[in-house]
Amino acid sequence: MILYIDACVRRESRTERLARALLQEFDDEIREVRLEEIPFDVSDEAFLERRDRLIEAGAFDHDMFSLARQFAAADMIVIAAPYWDLSFPASLKQYMEKVTVNGLTFEYTPEGIPRGLCRAEKLYYIMTAGGDYIPEEFGFGYIKALAEGYYGIRDVRLIKAAGLDIVGADPDQILDQCIRDQIRGPEGKEPGLSGADASGAEQAPASDRACRIYDRFRARASRDDEYKDWTEYRSELTDFIISNTKPGASLLILGAGKCNDLDLRKLAEHAGSMTLSDYRPETAEEAFRGYGLTPSAHLGFRAADYVGITDRDYMEYTDLLLSIMQKLAGTPARSLEAAAGPELDRLGQTLEEIYGRNADYRIDLGGAVYDYAVVAGVHSQLNNAFRGIFQYVRKDVEDSGDRVRFAEELNKYIFEITRKHTVDLVDRFNAAVFAAAGKGVIYGYEENIIYTPEGARGPVIGTVDGARQAGEAIADRPVETYISCLWPLSRRRGIKYEMTICFLKQN
Ligand SMILES: Cc1cc2nc3c(=O)[nH]c(=O)nc-3n(C[C@H](O)[C@H](O)[C@H](O)COP(=O)(O)O)c2cc1C
Repeated sequence: MILYIDACVRRESRTERLARALLQEFDDEIREVRLEEIPFDVSDEAFLERRDRLIEAGAFDHDMFSLARQFAAADMIVIAAPYWDLSFPASLKQYMEKVTVNGLTFEYTPEGIPRGLCRAEKLYYIMTAGGDYIPEEFGFGYIKALAEGYYGIRDVRLIKAAGLDIVGADPDQILDQCIRDQIRGPEGKEPGLSGADASGAEQAPASDRACRIYDRFRARASRDDEYKDWTEYRSELTDFIISNTKPGASLLILGAGKCNDLDLRKLAEHAGSMTLSDYRPETAEEAFRGYGLTPSAHLGFRAADYVGITDRDYMEYTDLLLSIMQKLAGTPARSLEAAAGPELDRLGQTLEEIYGRNADYRIDLGGAVYDYAVVAGVHSQLNNAFRGIFQYVRKDVEDSGDRVRFAEELNKYIFEITRKHTVDLVDRFNAAVFAAAGKGVIYGYEENIIYTPEGARGPVIGTVDGARQAGEAIADRPVETYISCLWPLSRRRGIKYEMTICFLKQN
């Protein structure tokens, strides 16, 4: 049984529209609780005493506990609540008070730790908000903490559409995109797993092999020796941040990963709070653990996707690329075009369509404004997934014994198409970063790739497209201070990035 808790109020509720779309995805009995129709008791002292007496007597079949019994017995919970005054309508709080019953939905262990007694393993929390300022802790965060910490519901997912009342916004379009991205998602993907899982209506599912290649690309890990290799760079970047930010300030660290480039311990001693932002929560946990820190109210994490191209789109691209490389491996021809001309056109067209679908994507950094944002070596990554996937596909084909002819030409073909979109991705990202930083931004980008034989500084052997754009994007902003330092990309190949790290003051 799915328990649908409806805290929506308006007749044309947009939150409810999302909830109905989600419920349609499941083929199970649905029981609805419309909070508006429930005459909640006033929680005065007399009520509390009455309740305690019933709990003490184990009289859980009393009417007072009917909602809690129903909650405890549900196989899955769906809550729909509009975002009101940074949380949700009071009726939902009243409902949570009603169902949080010691002995029915949770109990205390002898050590005083709550232990869940609910049957459900999954809870969806659906919300829509008028604006974009949505600190999570008072709304979804509160329900998640109760669900995980008290009721024992481990899988708690958020489905959210924001910015609906902003002047010029198109609410229908935002809701449709939310349904596409977060509820329907690609074939076989569960709703609410990622805000970036939109499904294009007429896309065909990718082959198993392409999905496996793409999964490997997504799961790619940083090298084990990065922490050691980056010691000097880490220290320079960390010291620069400390000398340009006020003690006790709040820091948002973007593209945090495992934070091999930042001494989190030192920063934690300096800052009042730090929030790591990245695509994958696991890496942030690893980062904190690696520096002997425990996540807390001052050391947090926010998942954010700075690009918004969906898994499904990347998989479609992987699939196409795989078929082209297989063709190149098996077809003798004099040129790339002769071997796979029509397929190349299709690849180019697909890439343009993917970028087109992505044009309205809104980066969600959570709505909070931090004192400082730290973004170093991130811009270069924004638009490089297509070329990263290229390397994984090529390796997969070559590992199976085939040689991919014209691979470099194909790589260049893809680069020429993707690079046209770097400016937009960088600008959109920067707008979100600067909006999230009240006092200033520590902004680092790769200026040059240099060759460093045996530690010496050799010639410039290249630049990084997104990083170059990052530099151009701040040309008009006054730079308070900056340093130049070296970030060792690959000790083995003797290559380093020459980084420019600036402090850009806001206001
Ligand atoms: C009483 C009230 C309080 C609200 N508070 C906020 C708020 O704090 N932040 C925000 O972004 N939007 C706020 N809104 C706007 C709603 O979140 C937004 O319009 C939402 O989509 C309404 O959902 P519904 O269509 O399901 O009623 C508020 C709306 C109301 C009526």
